[in-house]
Amino acid sequence: MKRILFVEDNEVLLQLYSIMLSSERDQWETTVAPDGQAAMELLRHSAFDVVASDMQMPGMSGIELLTEVRKMHPQTSRIIISGVSDQAAAADSLNCTHLFIPKPFEVDTLRATLARIVSLDAYLKDDKLRGLAGKMRSLPSFPMVYLEIIQEIESPNSCVSNIAKIIAKDPAITAKILQVANSAAIGLPEPVNDPMEAVSQLGMTTVRSLALSAQVFSSFKPGRLKHFSAETLWTHLMNSGDLARTIMRRERADFIESEDAFTAGMLHDIGQLMLADSLPDEFEKALALAETEKISLPEAELEVFGATHTGLAAYLFGLWGLPAAIVEAVAFHHDPVKSDLKEFTALTAVHVANALSDETESANLNLDYLELIGVADRLNDWRDTAAELRSEQMA
Ligand SMILES: [Fe+2]
Ligand SMILES: [Fe+2]
Repeated sequence: MKRILFVEDNEVLLQLYSIMLSSERDQWETTVAPDGQAAMELLRHSAFDVVASDMQMPGMSGIELLTEVRKMHPQTSRIIISGVSDQAAAADSLNCTHLFIPKPFEVDTLRATLARIVSLDAYLKDDKLRGLAGKMRSLPSFPMVYLEIIQEIESPNSCVSNIAKIIAKDPAITAKILQVANSAAIGLPEPVNDPMEAVSQLGMTTVRSLALSAQVFSSFKPGRLKHFSAETLWTHLMNSGDLARTIMRRERADFIESEDAFTAGMLHDIGQLMLADSLPDEFEKALALAETEKISLPEAELEVFGATHTGLAAYLFGLWGLPAAIVEAVAFHHDPVKSDLKEFTALTAVHVANALSDETESANLNLDYLELIGVADRLNDWRDTAAELRSEQMA
C-alpha cells in the first residue's frame, strides 16, 4: 500500500483526485491538502511515498513545496501537476520534481502515471546513475522550441505558418525537419525546401516531436568514434519513432499515446549520444566490450560506467519534466519487465520498434515480456509492419 499526498488549491480538483483514486483503494491511500502550508504540516508528522502538487498556489508554490519535501523526505517521489505554460519553470527547477503530469489530464493518465512512478523513480534514484549524470559535460537546458510549438498548437488560433516561423529560427531543427519531409517514405513528387511546406506535409504534432528530438540531438557533439556514428543513430531513432507510432496506431491506441510513442522512439537512445559526447573513450570501450563479449550494450555500459544510456537519457528527460509515459519508455526500452505497468503502452511499442526497426537488432526482443502483457501473438503483424516501413524507406 502506497501513500500519496495531493496538494491543490482548487477544491473541485482536489476532490476529483480522491475520487479518481478511489478505485485503486487497495494500492493507494490518498491524503489531500489545500495549500503548501497544510501539506508541510502533514509532512512534519508522517511520510508519504508520493507528493503530487499543483504548480501555482497562493502562498507556497508547488516548486517551493517540493524543494522542502526533498530536504525533509529525500525518498519521497515528487510530482508536479501543471499546465503546459508552467512546464519551462518546472523544468528549470532541476531536481525538485521527478515527474510531470500535464493539466488537464484524463483519469487514466493519472492512474498510469502513478503506476509508473514506483518503478521509474527507484530506477532514477540510483546513486551510480546520478554520479554518471554528474560527469556529463553539461546537461542541456529544456528545449524551448518544443515548448513554443506546444503553446502554439494549444492556442485557439494556432496555424501552420506560425509553427514554421518558430522552426525557421533554428537552422539545425529546420535542416532535420526538411530531411524528414523529403524522405522517400512520404513519397512527394517535388522536393520540399521551406519549413512552411514541411509543416503542412508532416502535420503539427509530428513536427513538434521532431523538433524536440532534433534539438536534443544537436545539443550533443560527439567526436569521431570507431564503433559509433551519430548519423546511424539518427536514422535508427527516426525509424524507431516511426515504427513505434505505427504499432500504436495498429493497436488502436489514442492520439496522445501514439504521439508519446513516436517522441519516445525518436529519443530513446539519446543517452548513447550523451556518453559519446562527454565520455568518448569509456563509451568506445563499452561498445567494444559489447561486441567482443557478445553482451548487450546496457550490460557493457554497466560494467564500464555502473549505469546505462537508458538511465542517463531518462534522467535528463525526467529533469525536463517530459510526460511520464515518454520517460518510462526511454528508461526501460531494453528491459521492459522493469516497469510496473504490465500492459500495452508506449514502452511496449518502443521496445518492439527498437528491436525491429533495423533487422539486426531483433535479438533484443524480450518475448517473456510480450507474453506477460498478452501481446505475443501480435508480433508477426508488427514484423510485417516493420518490413513495410523499411521497404518504403528504401523506395
Ligand atoms: Fe538503446
Ligand atoms: Fe535503440
